[in-house]
Amino acid sequence: MKSLFLKKGFERRVQTGYLWIFSNEVENLKDFVPGELAKIFTHTKDFVGIGYVNPHSLICARILSKKDTKIDIDFVKNRITTALSLRKKLYNKPYYRLLFSEGDFFPGVIIDRYDNIFSIQLNTFWADKNKDLIITALKEIFSNNINIVLKNDNNARLLETLPLSVESLNSEFNGDIFFEENEIKMYVNILKGQKTGYYFDQRENKKLMQFVAKDSYVIDVFSYIGGWGLNALKNGAKKVTFVDISAFPLECAEENVKLNKFKAETEFIKMDAIDFLKNLAQSNEKPDVLVIDPPAFVKSKKKLNEALKGYINLNKWALKSVKKNGFIFTCSCSQHVDEEKFHWILNNAAKTAGKKFKILSKLSQGFDHPVNPKMKETFYLKGFFIQVL
Ligand SMILES: C[S@@+](CC[C@H](N)C(=O)[O-])C[C@H]1O[C@@H](n2cnc3c(N)ncnc32)[C@H](O)[C@@H]1O
Repeated sequence: MKSLFLKKGFERRVQTGYLWIFSNEVENLKDFVPGELAKIFTHTKDFVGIGYVNPHSLICARILSKKDTKIDIDFVKNRITTALSLRKKLYNKPYYRLLFSEGDFFPGVIIDRYDNIFSIQLNTFWADKNKDLIITALKEIFSNNINIVLKNDNNARLLETLPLSVESLNSEFNGDIFFEENEIKMYVNILKGQKTGYYFDQRENKKLMQFVAKDSYVIDVFSYIGGWGLNALKNGAKKVTFVDISAFPLECAEENVKLNKFKAETEFIKMDAIDFLKNLAQSNEKPDVLVIDPPAFVKSKKKLNEALKGYINLNKWALKSVKKNGFIFTCSCSQHVDEEKFHWILNNAAKTAGKKFKILSKLSQGFDHPVNPKMKETFYLKGFFIQVL
């Protein structure tokens, strides 16, 4: 295995647990081909860890282990079983994000588990090149009969010069999955669905519906397959409106209402969120509870200012659209918008909307998306549960 040397002055962050190395921080990047393993050293030749390299990516190396260890099937199995034992402790049903990349000290690999169906995203060159190792490890831990779907359609792959694709390893598997979240039955087709199939990251936040949903009119904007709204129905909402720009997630949301035999009034609206909220702000039927859970607006640091305006506008219309003394769950899953910035966004939105609010609780990503305390990039989901006065 070759050695990769850090330039002088770039050792501290990695030595204290940060797992990424950027292309301007190393001496001899051109010695490597994409996906190659490397022993990483400081400029004074102190060992830092074992990582993998992609000279074509801005993040040119990611550290897999701080120890000088073999990166083999046992290493991969160890990372997965360590992550699995945490999930087994936290959840009594086998539906969760099994492995969360850097948050579980395994950069580039995301695995969601729907019982015996595993949805995998391999977001780096090394991870992609070693997919057989990862698949074998999963089969050895669980069973040879598991279904595996490679949801390799995340744009992060483009930064690593990898193609986008979606592939079920079992050609007979049609992609339909049934699972549960917060004791609610859920359906989605994993091949047609977004990301790894479902957004498990809001599970714990959705439980807060128990405090406000009863007898309320709830609107779930950016609903996807209905997670927030279904939690509202389970907790006694009198009516729920689901809004999303895509048709297929709304069809699933409708299916999920039926699956759970929820009897309250529901409606499913395919519409752009801002257009919907602008209409709602003028309407006489304003909701008691509003959920705003948009996709990431900030895809890169360069576009931050544009995205901040987008968040302020969205939250302005949300604040104008809820009943007096009503509640909003508002979220951002943009890695580049931290909690302080999101708080600032909300204050700006309230000022422009001419509204006051109280923060009842902060929201963050679910327990199966652990934050690596040395990498703020892994703390991507933040939000606030507020009352609008
Ligand atoms: C982060 S996901 C929502 C996850 C969902 N709330 C949950 O908890 O499972 C964002 C959703 O917003 C939808 N979306 C994207 N742009 C939109 C827009 N302009 N208006 C309405 N929905 C949009 C996407 O189709 C996607 O379902």
